[in-house]
Formats: sequence, C-alpha cells, structure tokens
Amino acid sequence: MCGIIGCAGRNEDTLDVLLSGLEGLEYRGYDSAGVALSNGSVEICKREGTIERLQAAVDRSLGGTDAVGIGHTRWSTHGPPSDENSHPHTDCTGEVAVVHNGIIENYSALKEELQESGHEFTSDTDSEVVPHLVEDALSEGVSPEEAFRRAVSRVEGSYALAAVLADSEAVLATRNDSPLVLGVGEEAAYLASDVPAFLEYTDRVVYLEDGEFARLESGSWSVSDADGEVVDKSISRVEWDAEETAKSGYDHYMLKEIHEQPRALRKCLRGRVDERTGSVDVEALVGLSPSSVQFVACGTSYHAALYGAQLLREEGIHAHAFLASEYATAPAPVDDGTLVVGITQSGETADTLSALREAHRQNVETLAVTNVVGSTVSRECDRTLFIRAGPEIGVAASKTFSSQAIAANLLALALSGRASRNQELIGALRDLPSQVQAILDDSRAEEVASKYVDSPAYFFIGRNEHGPVALEGALKLKEISYKHAEGFAAGELKHGPLALVTEETPVFAMVTGDGEAATKTIGNVKEVEARDAPVVAVTDGVSDVGRYAEDVLRVPETHPRLAPVLANVQLQLVSYFVAKELGRSIDKPRNLAKSVTVE
Ligand code: G6P
Repeated sequence: MCGIIGCAGRNEDTLDVLLSGLEGLEYRGYDSAGVALSNGSVEICKREGTIERLQAAVDRSLGGTDAVGIGHTRWSTHGPPSDENSHPHTDCTGEVAVVHNGIIENYSALKEELQESGHEFTSDTDSEVVPHLVEDALSEGVSPEEAFRRAVSRVEGSYALAAVLADSEAVLATRNDSPLVLGVGEEAAYLASDVPAFLEYTDRVVYLEDGEFARLESGSWSVSDADGEVVDKSISRVEWDAEETAKSGYDHYMLKEIHEQPRALRKCLRGRVDERTGSVDVEALVGLSPSSVQFVACGTSYHAALYGAQLLREEGIHAHAFLASEYATAPAPVDDGTLVVGITQSGETADTLSALREAHRQNVETLAVTNVVGSTVSRECDRTLFIRAGPEIGVAASKTFSSQAIAANLLALALSGRASRNQELIGALRDLPSQVQAILDDSRAEEVASKYVDSPAYFFIGRNEHGPVALEGALKLKEISYKHAEGFAAGELKHGPLALVTEETPVFAMVTGDGEAATKTIGNVKEVEARDAPVVAVTDGVSDVGRYAEDVLRVPETHPRLAPVLANVQLQLVSYFVAKELGRSIDKPRNLAKSVTVE
C-alpha cells in the first residue's frame, strides 16, 4: 500500500532522507514513487516503477540545502501506474505538493466542483483534489496551515496526507484511518507511514491520532487538533533498531525473517509464562473470562486466528475465526460475555480495523494481537497482546505467523485454568525455539522445492490443528511463487479436490503423532498415493506416514498443539526455495502489499 515519508531538518540532506525513507517503505508494496522538496519554491520528481528509477531520474540538487520535503510510494487505486498518477500531486500553480495514502470517497464531487471553478487536473487520482483545495483556500488569504486544514475539512474517506508549500518552511500532515507517525530527531523531524522509513535517524516517535494535524519545521514539531488547538503529545521509544530492518547478509528479507523465528518466539514468551505453576503473566489478559471468542483477521493472520480458535475450543470455550472483511459487513451475534480478538501483524489492516469497530459498536470487549506498538489496532482495542516478533519487511508474513500462533497459545493458557495441562504445554513452548532452529539447520526443503519446482499445482492437507497450516502453506507458496496452490482440511480432499490430483501435483501432508487425526490423515495420504501423486509428508516420524510418501520433511516431536508451528517452518522454506528457483520477487510479490490500508 502507499507509503509516506516527510522530513524537515537542519543540516539534513532532505533528498537523501526521502529516498532512503522510500526504500524503507518499499516492503509495503508499490508501483510508483516520487518526492517534492520546498525551499521557496516546490520541486518535484516522480516516476512510475521502482525507486531505483526515481533515483536515476532525480537531480541530486533538488531542493538545495535546508529544504523540507515529502516522498511517496504509490500502490494504485484510482488510475493505472504512470508518471502522471504518481505522487506528489500539485495544484494549478505548482506551489502546493501533496502526498496521500488512502481513499478519498467524495473526490468525484470535489473534482467536478474544482474543475467548474477553473482548476485543471493532470491525473486520474482521487488524491489530486487536495492540492487544488489548498490552492483555493490560499486564494482567500489564509495561512498555509489554515489552508491545509480547510482543504482537509472538505475531504471524506481514509487518508494520511502530507504537504509542502512554496510559501511555507514546514511539512504539514494529518491522518484519518490511515497510519502516520512522527520521528523526533536531534535536529530534524520526520514523518512516515511506518517507523522503518526513518528508523536509521531516530527511534523516538510520536503517534498521530485521527483528526490531528502535525507541523514539522527544521528540527521542531508540533501537533494540533482540527481547530488548531495545540495537543500535548508524548514521545515513545520504539524497541526495534535499524539492524533489525536490514537484510544482514541474507538474499531476501523473507529468508532472514524465517531464520529469526527462534529469537522471535523467545521474545514472545519471555517473562510471560511460569512452568512451575503453569500460570501466564500477561497484563493484557488479566481478568479475561469470556463466554465466547470471535477472532477477526485477514490473510496469514486469519490462519493464525483459525488455529487460535481451535485451541480455545479445546479449552471448552466457544470460539470461531471470521474473515475480517466478511465480519465487517455481516458480524456474528454477540452477547455480554463475547470477546472479539483482532489478529493483525501490522495493526493497520483496514478490514480488520473495520471488523473491530463493528464489535465496538456492539459494546463488546476487544483484544488486539499485533506486532506493532502504537499501531491503530493497539490504540483502538480495549486490550493489546504484542507478539514481539520485531519488524517484518517481507510482504509475505513468516515469523509473525509463528509468533501469532504462540500468542494464541498464551491466550488459551490464560483462559484454561488447568495448571497441570498448562505446565506440560509451557515446557513444550520453552523448547520450541530450539526445535525451530533444528529445522532451520537441517531442512531438506530446498531439495524438495527443487524437485517439484515445475509442478503445475500443489496441494496441502492437514487435520485439526494442521488444517490452518495447510491453508497457510498454500497461501505462502502462491503469494511468492505465483504457482497454483490450495490447502484443504485433509478429510475434504475426497469431496472434490481429489479430481485435481495427478502424478504431476505434489501433495504436502502434515502428519504428527499417531493419534486418530494422524491415522485418518494417513488414510487420505493413501488416497493420494493411489492416484500416483507424489506425497511430501511433513512429519515427526511417530507414525508410519513416511512409508506412503515420496519425500519426508522431518520436524521434532513436540506437544500436539505446537506441531503445526514446526510443520509450517518447513512449508515456509519450501515456498521460499520454489520462488527463489523461479526467480520471483520474493520480498515484494507482484500485486501484493504488506499493509493493506483500504477495504
Ligand atoms: C496482506 C499481506 C499478508 C497479510 C495480510 C494481513 O494481505 O500481504 O501477508 O497476512 O495483509 O495483514 P495483517 O497486517 O493484518 O496481519
């Protein structure tokens, strides 16, 4: 999704800050990029395509010294990717430049009105109305800040907006339903859609709330409300450091993030569980005792939600996972004891926020499970459980899924109240990071990926807790390799999908332990084998599934609840190596965005 960066600073090479900030936002997904600098006049450079294209095109002296500036990565919504549709957009005079993230719902009416009064538009975007509205307000003789405020008051929809004006030494910005965070440096102030964009300069941040306006000047900043009244804001320190957002020698962020899982899981658990007593010490979960739990989430987070709902049902709690986009317009019935849990890595996914707002409208308690401190979800929900995975840059979620799964276990432990069972699970959780490490050290995934890289389709099957991982394995593979992949509850295979299974389509089967679920899944594996399809068993070797498999990916033995987390690590690696062998853009797959801030 679109990304915004802004900078106002003494002794700063503003253009450099903007360009490197845009690189820090690349992971969100984009198709064009641009910058605007103001230093008495406004200068712009923007290009369809990559940031490298923009860098090659830009005049290094753009803006000169002491300029203030804004930059943008665009993910097209209104109008195709093109130089004209790229941001920043300007007014008729070229003295107001604006970048926008979100959707302006009333832009058609505004555009018509502005065109009637003589404004000329040069793009198909909804965003371009904003600089023209600012121009109109300026012509009434108000200050740049007031003109920006008046323009924003005309706009309906979701937006993070930032502007520079020829007539002002400040970057002006505001937000509504779209993320925007300020960075506070020694002699410079920054703003961005997400912290990684300015993390190399400062880890001190100020989170802007909906309806607030920020003003960044050379080394200073202030925040005010819609009426211009100053708002007192506190500065927080983000725990991530710049190293965590670097590739650190790995070919791709995704591979780095897969390898970071042992550390991420340790961090998620640290100080939160006590194996001796079987108790959980997580402030966000204290006193929770819901009669039913409804999870809402999207994409990979939805698979973590499906997994979490199963854990809670095992604890005797009514629990169900909903796709947030569905829940937002067709919510499930709730009562006083319902807890709605939103799982979202970024904390900014529009569908998930919308579903949670629906829950708020019904006065239901809400819990956010997220990775990003200060994210919208964490500020809007009654409680927040942070997964502590550290920044995830690869568009396809990897380590955050594992950490979300562990957070779901913390929730299940907190609601269970069965100390002895909890002790056993906590012991297994303690061992989990080193078991993930063992998989990373020894996996045959690259070999398996290479063997099946030319297959026309891939299927993934798993029963009970392995069901969500079957879906996740397929999603990961299609996201980054662009190959057709589908996941099913193992028992469903014979009710239709089996028609697609041939000797050319590998079927990945997750089978751990030797209980009823394993036995039944082995039955499904035999159905596959009888159709001559190659089976790749992801197994701990406790059952004899290996006898029916063409290939085996081993996982260590663990508590049944945690086996899917281990199996998923093998599947992540398979997806990664298939995509790598196919030469795909692994960290930024086509058409996808990391943070989906539109519904
Ligand atoms: C996008 C990403 C997915 C992610 C989903 C939900 O579609 O490409 O990887 O799972 O959003 O994101 P969230 O931040 O809510 O977990």
